[in-house]
Amino acid sequence: MTQDLRGILLSGGAGTRLHPVTISMSKQLMPVYDKPMVYYPLTTLMLAGIRDILVITTPRDQQAYRSLLGDGSQWGVSLVYAVQQEPRGIAEAFLIGRSFIGHRPVALILGDNIFYAQGFSEKLQQVARPAQGATVFGYWVRDPERYGVASFDADGHVTKIVEKPERPDSHYAITGLYFYDGDVVGITEELQPSGRGELEITDVNRAYLERGDLRVELLGRGTAWLDTGTHDSLLDAANFVRVIEKRQGLKIACPEEIAFRMRFIDEQQLERLADACGASGYADYLRAVLREPVPVSE
Ligand code: G1P
Repeated sequence: MTQDLRGILLSGGAGTRLHPVTISMSKQLMPVYDKPMVYYPLTTLMLAGIRDILVITTPRDQQAYRSLLGDGSQWGVSLVYAVQQEPRGIAEAFLIGRSFIGHRPVALILGDNIFYAQGFSEKLQQVARPAQGATVFGYWVRDPERYGVASFDADGHVTKIVEKPERPDSHYAITGLYFYDGDVVGITEELQPSGRGELEITDVNRAYLERGDLRVELLGRGTAWLDTGTHDSLLDAANFVRVIEKRQGLKIACPEEIAFRMRFIDEQQLERLADACGASGYADYLRAVLREPVPVSE
């Protein structure tokens, strides 16, 4: 089913927690060390093998995304765009993307979610395969009350998912990366907005749970799932990326490199992309990828 799987990258929201830096600029376009934040979730979809992606932005920011990402052909993917008029919830992405999705399975990723783990690409490609149900990811955090939280029974089966519970009964946050079968649009159409007036992604997950069709894959301790919602966590994410990249001389979430390693583009295209980067360190890095094509999994 992987070839049918579509991707949605949701980069809406007002980013008010990061004011004043986000007053005139989309949060997900801000740098995380050496590249725009949106490169991280975009490359996560690419690592899952997804090549048809809908980018949903605020009306104000769409042009900026288009000039950054274009139509995706430079990276061997197809990017199309839509807007979310008001922040009416994450699940609204499936209504905005109704015709883009059709009855296909779809992966949704939030534009501010950064994942980094050994073997993550393989894991994503496995998850992308099932034709039925939903798969989400659970990650142990210190402060689960800030997220959707999953509870488990003694056998490790998920029993409950609650959005931002005051008293969470587990430390497992549900991350902002979701895989659904072709029923997701219909399920979302049945949802009522929550108390805060939003179509909650947690309600979509609950609908799958109730029909016995929700898998929660736990991401282990060797995984980094980074938050960028506050000034501190944004700086921490940048420092994390900087430390790994400096130590290894390998970039995290470099779309040109990932497109090349996923065989979405060939050597000539990577060379053209390097030339287009001018005399930057980024261009030198892309040329090094061409010279020493080390197989690196992300
Ligand atoms: C959203 C979801 C929440 C999820 C989180 C992951 O929260 O509602 O369930 O755990 O994304 O980033 P928000 O960031 O909108 O507060």
